[in-house]
Amino acid sequence: MRNVASASGKIVLAGEYAMVFGSPGLALPSKQGVRVTCNEDGGRTLTIQREGAEQDTQKEQFALTIVRLCEEKRKPVCGTLTVESDLPLGKGMGSSTALVIAIARCLLGEKCLDDALAIEDHVNPGHSGMDFTVIWNAQPIRYERGKPAQPIQIPRTILDRALLIDTGAPGETTAELVKWVRSREAELKKPLTTIGSCADRILAKENPLAVFRDHHRAQIALGVVPENVQEFVAAVEAQGGAAKITGAGGRSGGGGIVIAVHDDHALLERLAEERGWPTFPL
Ligand code: MEV
Repeated sequence: MRNVASASGKIVLAGEYAMVFGSPGLALPSKQGVRVTCNEDGGRTLTIQREGAEQDTQKEQFALTIVRLCEEKRKPVCGTLTVESDLPLGKGMGSSTALVIAIARCLLGEKCLDDALAIEDHVNPGHSGMDFTVIWNAQPIRYERGKPAQPIQIPRTILDRALLIDTGAPGETTAELVKWVRSREAELKKPLTTIGSCADRILAKENPLAVFRDHHRAQIALGVVPENVQEFVAAVEAQGGAAKITGAGGRSGGGGIVIAVHDDHALLERLAEERGWPTFPL
Protein backbone atom coordinates (compact mmCIF):
# COMPACT_ATOMS: atom_id res chain seq x y z
CA MET A 1 0.00 0.00 0.00
CA ARG A 2 1.30 3.47 -0.91
CA ASN A 3 0.27 6.67 0.90
CA VAL A 4 1.47 10.21 0.25
CA ALA A 5 0.91 13.33 2.38
CA SER A 6 2.44 16.76 2.62
CA ALA A 7 2.60 19.88 4.75
CA SER A 8 4.03 23.36 4.23
CA GLY A 9 6.35 25.18 6.58
CA LYS A 10 5.46 28.56 8.09
CA ILE A 11 6.68 32.12 8.38
CA VAL A 12 5.92 33.99 11.60
CA LEU A 13 5.48 37.71 10.97
CA ALA A 14 4.89 38.72 14.59
CA GLY A 15 4.51 37.30 18.08
CA GLU A 16 7.49 34.95 18.65
CA TYR A 17 7.71 33.83 22.30
CA ALA A 18 4.91 36.24 23.39
CA MET A 19 2.53 33.65 21.85
CA VAL A 20 3.81 31.07 24.32
CA PHE A 21 2.42 33.28 27.12
CA GLY A 22 -0.94 33.85 25.41
CA SER A 23 -0.37 36.97 23.27
CA PRO A 24 -1.46 36.99 19.61
CA GLY A 25 0.81 36.31 16.64
CA LEU A 26 0.58 36.36 12.83
CA ALA A 27 1.91 33.72 10.47
CA LEU A 28 1.49 32.40 6.96
CA PRO A 29 2.29 29.04 5.35
CA SER A 30 5.52 28.92 3.35
CA LYS A 31 5.76 27.93 -0.32
CA GLN A 32 8.28 25.30 0.74
CA GLY A 33 7.23 22.14 2.54
CA VAL A 34 7.73 18.43 3.13
CA ARG A 35 6.24 15.43 1.35
CA VAL A 36 6.12 11.98 2.89
CA THR A 37 5.55 8.76 0.92
CA CYS A 38 5.07 5.45 2.67
CA ASN A 39 5.26 2.17 0.74
CA GLU A 40 4.13 -0.61 3.05
CA ASP A 41 5.33 -3.99 1.85
CA GLY A 42 4.03 -6.42 4.46
CA GLY A 43 7.59 -7.16 5.64
CA ARG A 44 9.00 -6.78 9.13
CA THR A 45 11.30 -3.78 8.89
CA LEU A 46 11.03 -0.05 8.26
CA THR A 47 13.54 2.01 6.28
CA ILE A 48 13.45 5.79 6.51
CA GLN A 49 15.11 7.69 3.69
CA ARG A 50 15.41 11.39 2.93
CA GLU A 51 15.22 11.98 -0.82
CA GLY A 52 18.12 13.98 -2.26
CA ALA A 53 19.67 14.53 1.18
CA GLU A 54 22.78 13.11 2.79
CA GLN A 55 22.25 10.57 5.53
CA ASP A 56 21.76 12.28 8.88
CA THR A 57 21.11 9.91 11.77
CA GLN A 58 19.61 12.65 13.97
CA LYS A 59 17.05 13.65 11.32
CA GLU A 60 16.15 10.04 10.50
CA GLN A 61 15.80 9.34 14.22
CA PHE A 62 13.43 12.32 14.59
CA ALA A 63 11.23 10.95 11.77
CA LEU A 64 11.36 7.49 13.38
CA THR A 65 10.19 8.94 16.72
CA ILE A 66 7.14 10.42 14.95
CA VAL A 67 6.45 7.06 13.21
CA ARG A 68 6.66 5.22 16.55
CA LEU A 69 4.19 7.69 18.11
CA CYS A 70 1.82 7.12 15.16
CA GLU A 71 2.13 3.37 15.74
CA GLU A 72 0.42 3.84 19.12
CA LYS A 73 -2.70 4.51 17.00
CA ARG A 74 -2.25 1.92 14.21
CA LYS A 75 -0.46 -1.28 13.22
CA PRO A 76 3.36 -1.22 12.91
CA VAL A 77 4.69 0.45 9.76
CA CYS A 78 6.84 -1.90 7.65
CA GLY A 79 8.36 -0.90 4.29
CA THR A 80 9.93 2.39 3.20
CA LEU A 81 9.07 5.87 4.37
CA THR A 82 10.55 8.58 2.16
CA VAL A 83 10.79 12.23 3.21
CA GLU A 84 11.27 14.91 0.55
CA SER A 85 11.75 18.50 1.68
CA ASP A 86 12.57 21.84 0.14
CA LEU A 87 12.09 23.54 3.50
CA PRO A 88 15.17 24.94 5.28
CA LEU A 89 15.57 22.52 8.21
CA GLY A 90 15.96 23.70 11.80
CA LYS A 91 15.91 27.38 10.78
CA GLY A 92 12.63 28.68 12.17
CA MET A 93 10.33 27.75 9.29
CA GLY A 94 8.51 24.97 11.13
CA SER A 95 10.28 21.98 9.59
CA SER A 96 9.78 19.74 12.63
CA THR A 97 6.05 20.54 12.87
CA ALA A 98 5.66 20.09 9.09
CA LEU A 99 7.22 16.65 9.45
CA VAL A 100 4.89 15.76 12.34
CA ILE A 101 1.84 16.74 10.30
CA ALA A 102 2.97 15.13 7.02
CA ILE A 103 3.94 11.81 8.67
CA ALA A 104 0.76 11.72 10.78
CA ARG A 105 -1.42 12.43 7.73
CA CYS A 106 0.44 9.78 5.74
CA LEU A 107 0.16 7.06 8.40
CA LEU A 108 -3.08 7.96 10.20
CA GLY A 109 -5.11 9.65 7.44
CA GLU A 110 -6.02 13.26 6.75
CA LYS A 111 -8.39 13.52 9.74
CA CYS A 112 -5.71 12.90 12.38
CA LEU A 113 -5.79 16.39 13.96
CA ASP A 114 -5.93 15.31 17.63
CA ASP A 115 -3.33 12.56 17.22
CA ALA A 116 -0.99 14.84 15.26
CA LEU A 117 -1.29 17.55 17.92
CA ALA A 118 -0.48 15.02 20.67
CA ILE A 119 2.66 14.04 18.72
CA GLU A 120 3.60 17.73 18.34
CA ASP A 121 3.22 18.18 22.13
CA HIS A 122 5.59 15.25 22.61
CA VAL A 123 8.34 16.22 20.16
CA ASN A 124 8.13 20.04 20.53
CA PRO A 125 7.39 20.54 24.23
CA GLY A 126 6.45 24.01 25.46
CA HIS A 127 5.19 25.25 22.07
CA SER A 128 2.38 27.82 21.79
CA GLY A 129 0.41 25.94 19.14
CA MET A 130 1.03 28.59 16.45
CA ASP A 131 3.30 26.50 14.21
CA PHE A 132 0.92 23.56 14.35
CA THR A 133 -2.18 25.68 13.68
CA VAL A 134 -0.85 27.64 10.69
CA ILE A 135 0.67 24.54 9.07
CA TRP A 136 -2.42 22.42 9.69
CA ASN A 137 -4.78 25.14 8.33
CA ALA A 138 -2.47 26.06 5.42
CA GLN A 139 -3.60 29.69 5.41
CA PRO A 140 -2.43 33.00 6.94
CA ILE A 141 -3.78 33.39 10.47
CA ARG A 142 -3.89 35.50 13.57
CA TYR A 143 -3.25 33.01 16.36
CA GLU A 144 -4.00 33.42 20.05
CA ARG A 145 -3.80 30.37 22.29
CA GLY A 146 -7.21 29.07 23.37
CA LYS A 147 -9.10 30.94 20.62
CA PRO A 148 -10.08 29.76 17.12
CA ALA A 149 -7.46 30.71 14.54
CA GLN A 150 -8.59 33.78 12.63
CA PRO A 151 -7.90 33.76 8.86
CA ILE A 152 -6.26 37.03 7.79
CA GLN A 153 -4.96 38.81 4.71
CA ILE A 154 -1.29 39.67 4.98
CA PRO A 155 -0.92 43.38 4.09
CA ARG A 156 0.49 43.91 0.58
CA THR A 157 2.95 46.40 2.14
CA ILE A 158 4.68 43.31 3.57
CA LEU A 159 3.93 40.65 0.93
CA ASP A 160 5.14 42.73 -2.03
CA ARG A 161 8.36 43.88 -0.37
CA ALA A 162 9.52 40.94 1.73
CA LEU A 163 12.52 38.72 1.09
CA LEU A 164 13.70 35.75 3.17
CA ILE A 165 17.38 35.43 4.08
CA ASP A 166 19.03 32.29 5.40
CA THR A 167 21.50 33.34 8.10
CA GLY A 168 22.40 29.75 9.04
CA ALA A 169 21.19 27.15 11.48
CA PRO A 170 20.93 28.13 15.16
CA GLY A 171 22.85 26.01 17.67
CA GLU A 172 19.69 25.33 19.71
CA THR A 173 16.32 23.75 19.01
CA THR A 174 13.14 25.80 19.35
CA ALA A 175 12.10 23.70 22.37
CA GLU A 176 15.41 24.54 24.12
CA LEU A 177 15.00 28.25 23.39
CA VAL A 178 11.36 28.31 24.52
CA LYS A 179 12.41 26.64 27.78
CA TRP A 180 15.15 29.25 28.29
CA VAL A 181 12.79 32.17 27.61
CA ARG A 182 10.07 30.64 29.85
CA SER A 183 12.61 30.42 32.71
CA ARG A 184 13.17 34.23 32.46
CA GLU A 185 9.54 35.31 31.91
CA ALA A 186 9.46 37.84 34.78
CA GLU A 187 12.61 39.70 33.70
CA LEU A 188 11.51 39.69 30.01
CA LYS A 189 8.08 41.23 30.62
CA LYS A 190 8.82 44.42 28.65
CA PRO A 191 10.10 42.86 25.39
CA LEU A 192 7.41 40.16 25.58
CA THR A 193 4.74 42.88 25.89
CA THR A 194 6.22 44.74 22.90
CA ILE A 195 6.25 41.57 20.78
CA GLY A 196 2.75 40.71 21.96
CA SER A 197 1.42 44.02 20.61
CA CYS A 198 2.91 43.67 17.11
CA ALA A 199 0.33 41.32 15.51
CA ASP A 200 -2.54 43.71 16.09
CA ARG A 201 -0.44 46.72 15.13
CA ILE A 202 0.15 45.09 11.74
CA LEU A 203 -3.54 44.20 11.36
CA ALA A 204 -4.40 47.82 12.27
CA LYS A 205 -2.35 48.77 9.16
CA GLU A 206 0.44 50.54 11.03
CA ASN A 207 3.56 50.95 8.90
CA PRO A 208 5.11 47.45 8.98
CA LEU A 209 8.62 48.92 8.92
CA ALA A 210 7.99 50.59 12.30
CA VAL A 211 6.42 47.42 13.72
CA PHE A 212 9.26 45.16 12.50
CA ARG A 213 11.88 47.53 13.97
CA ASP A 214 10.23 47.40 17.42
CA HIS A 215 9.73 43.64 17.14
CA HIS A 216 13.37 43.09 16.21
CA ARG A 217 14.66 45.17 19.14
CA ALA A 218 12.46 43.18 21.52
CA GLN A 219 13.82 39.90 20.09
CA ILE A 220 17.34 41.23 20.75
CA ALA A 221 16.29 41.93 24.36
CA LEU A 222 15.14 38.29 24.66
CA GLY A 223 18.66 37.20 23.69
CA VAL A 224 17.74 35.22 20.55
CA VAL A 225 19.33 37.38 17.82
CA PRO A 226 23.01 36.54 17.10
CA GLU A 227 25.34 39.53 16.71
CA ASN A 228 25.98 39.06 12.99
CA VAL A 229 22.20 39.09 12.39
CA GLN A 230 21.88 42.26 14.48
CA GLU A 231 24.58 43.85 12.35
CA PHE A 232 22.78 42.76 9.12
CA VAL A 233 19.43 44.15 10.29
CA ALA A 234 21.14 47.43 11.22
CA ALA A 235 22.49 47.62 7.64
CA VAL A 236 18.96 47.00 6.24
CA GLU A 237 17.52 49.68 8.54
CA ALA A 238 20.27 52.15 7.56
CA GLN A 239 19.00 51.79 3.96
CA GLY A 240 15.41 52.57 4.99
CA GLY A 241 14.14 48.97 5.37
CA ALA A 242 13.37 46.72 8.30
CA ALA A 243 13.99 43.07 9.16
CA LYS A 244 13.47 40.53 11.91
CA ILE A 245 14.15 36.89 12.59
CA THR A 246 11.14 34.69 11.85
CA GLY A 247 10.77 31.87 14.34
CA ALA A 248 12.76 31.11 17.44
CA GLY A 249 16.14 32.60 16.40
CA GLY A 250 19.24 31.36 18.21
CA ARG A 251 21.82 31.99 20.93
CA SER A 252 24.78 30.42 19.15
CA GLY A 253 25.33 29.67 15.46
CA GLY A 254 23.04 31.38 12.96
CA GLY A 255 19.73 33.12 13.51
CA GLY A 256 17.79 30.95 11.07
CA ILE A 257 15.60 32.75 8.54
CA VAL A 258 15.27 36.54 8.57
CA ILE A 259 12.36 38.32 6.87
CA ALA A 260 13.45 41.67 5.43
CA VAL A 261 11.19 44.35 3.99
CA HIS A 262 12.47 46.89 1.45
CA ASP A 263 11.27 48.16 -1.94
CA ASP A 264 14.70 47.45 -3.42
CA HIS A 265 15.21 43.67 -3.43
CA ALA A 266 18.51 43.99 -5.29
CA LEU A 267 19.82 45.95 -2.30
CA LEU A 268 18.66 43.28 0.18
CA GLU A 269 20.20 40.57 -2.02
CA ARG A 270 23.49 42.44 -2.12
CA LEU A 271 23.58 42.89 1.68
CA ALA A 272 22.86 39.17 2.11
CA GLU A 273 25.35 38.09 -0.55
CA GLU A 274 28.12 40.13 1.13
CA ARG A 275 27.63 37.85 4.15
CA GLY A 276 27.36 34.66 2.08
CA TRP A 277 23.67 34.23 2.93
CA PRO A 278 21.19 32.85 0.36
CA THR A 279 17.88 34.65 -0.24
CA PHE A 280 14.51 33.45 -1.45
CA PRO A 281 11.06 34.96 -1.97
CA LEU A 282 8.28 34.84 0.61
C1 MEV B 1 8.29 29.47 16.78
O1 MEV B 1 7.85 29.48 15.45
C2 MEV B 1 7.58 30.53 17.55
C3 MEV B 1 7.86 30.53 19.04
O2 MEV B 1 7.05 31.58 19.59
C4 MEV B 1 7.55 29.22 19.69
C5 MEV B 1 6.07 28.93 19.73
O3 MEV B 1 5.25 29.85 19.55
O4 MEV B 1 5.74 27.75 19.96
C6 MEV B 1 9.32 30.89 19.33
